[in-house]
Formats: sequence, structure tokens, C-alpha cells
Amino acid sequence: MRHFLSLKDFTKSEILEMIALAQNIKSEAKAKNFVPYLEKQTLGMIFEKSSTRTRVSFETGIYQLGGVGLFLSSNDIQLGRGEPMKDTSRVISRMVDMVMIRTFEQSKLEEFAKYSKVPVINGLTDLFHPVQVMTDYLTMLEFGIDKPIVAYVGDGNNMTHSWLMLATKLGFELRVATPKGYECNQQVIEEALELAKISTAKISFGNDPKIAVKDANVVTTDTWISMGQEDEKEERIKAFEGYIVDEALMSLTEKDAIFLHCLPAYREYEVSEAIFEKHADEIFTEAENRLHAQKGIMVWLDQHRDQ
Ligand code: CP
Ligand code: NVA
Repeated sequence: MRHFLSLKDFTKSEILEMIALAQNIKSEAKAKNFVPYLEKQTLGMIFEKSSTRTRVSFETGIYQLGGVGLFLSSNDIQLGRGEPMKDTSRVISRMVDMVMIRTFEQSKLEEFAKYSKVPVINGLTDLFHPVQVMTDYLTMLEFGIDKPIVAYVGDGNNMTHSWLMLATKLGFELRVATPKGYECNQQVIEEALELAKISTAKISFGNDPKIAVKDANVVTTDTWISMGQEDEKEERIKAFEGYIVDEALMSLTEKDAIFLHCLPAYREYEVSEAIFEKHADEIFTEAENRLHAQKGIMVWLDQHRDQ
């Protein structure tokens, strides 16, 4: 049985298999052909943090695959009152067929997976957001980006770490520009650089957004204040001055560059209103693709239950 906790656990061909499944399921769904690949299956969805896209896309996705989603907010289940993760896992995984968790520490997700009888999917932790970058890759392909040169401008966070894993596994160029003091997790950087040695990936890190975006064909960013960092808001806004993705920055990219944002977006902080609206089609296709990419991931995990 396989879990989907981080892209570092998957080979390039496995990642591409999930993307191909997503593409196929998306085209079936667009033709109103909802194939019940996961008939009568239940997806438990545990949320310890807020969500719009992750909740709606997983709940709709499992329903369209012939199953049902259970929304389990930690405010409502005993986990929020101190029942251990390992007990929660041993109970829930005896009743449902797959589990998605959004939580804080990656170690809590790993603890749940260790005790689970069913596949577990990372729906965002402080360290990684792998379902989002799978979605972003699907979206890049749809917008004709076959040789990605991706510039990530902003906080060295769960999104950046996931981009690092995606780029190093698939072998494309990723340039990360973060302010000093807000760089990526050192262990993730080291793992990514190790992985890059055995793929064709080209990874670079710096503190200058202008260098990162030069001739890039994909620019992406994320909030400067992730969930759980609300107390750092004022100092972060000061530290990220000059990191807004605006017209001046986008004028340095390759001329047909696309702009992606996992959302929610905070205008006039990480992205200007004008750039956001100019690239709204890409951004909201990306949001919709959460539904399709995650169906590919769930079906792939179901197909690999006995391995
Ligand atoms: N991008 C993303 O994961 O959005 P939500 O926090 O709304 O789920
Ligand atoms: N980095 C953000 C992503 C939100 C989807 C956060 O963790 O809050």
C-alpha cells in the first residue's frame, strides 16, 4: 500500500502515471462520463486548518468517482480534544477506504499513515503541499508549457518545498527567490539538490526576484503569511518588500509566461491586482484542476493498494 505524503516517495514515472490518469478522468468528466472508479468507497477528510479548495475538490472528486467524502474538522472530532493521532488513525482507517489530512507538522501526518490500514493523502502540512503542485503541473501542460522554467518568488514554505520535489523528480528548471531569513527548509534543500543530481533538474536559490524570473515561462508565488503564522504578519510584510509579482517583474519573463497561484491570493502583497486579473484564466483553471489532479491521485492509490 502506498501513501501520498510527499513527492519524494514517488518516481518520475509514477508521478506521470497519476498525471495521465488525471488527464483521462478530466476528459471523461468534461464529457459528463463519471466513471465510478472508486464505487462505494469512503474518503475521510481530516482538517486541522481552514480550506476552501482542498475540501470542495476532494469532496466533489470522491463523489464523482462513485464514493462519498466525510468532512472531519478537528474542532468536531475527538482529535481536537486530545485523542492521539495514532488512535484516530486506527479507528478511522478501519471504517473508510482512504484518508486525506490537512495538519501542521509533517510528523503528525506520518504518524497517522504509520497506523493506517488505508492510503493517506497529504492535503497540506507546514512542510509540503504535494496535491497542489501535481495540479500545477497538470495546468502547466494544459497551457502548453512542455519545457518549464519556473520562477518561485516569495516565502520558502510548503509550496516552495513541493515545487522543489516536483522539479527534481521531473527534471525541469526551478529558480527560487526568497528574502533573507525566509529561505526554504535546509533539509528539503539538501534532499532536492541530491535528487537533482540524478535528474535533469536545474535548481537555483537566491534573494533577487528579478534574476529568478528572467526569461522564465512560469512564475508562481504564495501568501507571505501561511496558516499558523498570523502572529508574524507585520514583520513578514516588512521583510517581503520588493517581492510582489507585478507588471514590472512580469515584464522580465518570457513573453508568453503564465502565472500560477495556489490561492488564496492577497492582492498588493505577493501579487498585484493587475497581474492577478491578467492571469485569471490560468489561476482559476489551476484551482479547478485540484478536482481532476486529485482524482488521478486517488485512483492511482486505489490501484496500488496491494503493493
Ligand atoms: N490552495 C489550497 O490548498 O487552498 P485551500 O486552502 O482553500 O484548500
Ligand atoms: N502556504 C500556504 C498555502 C495555502 C494553500 C499555507 O500553508 O497557508
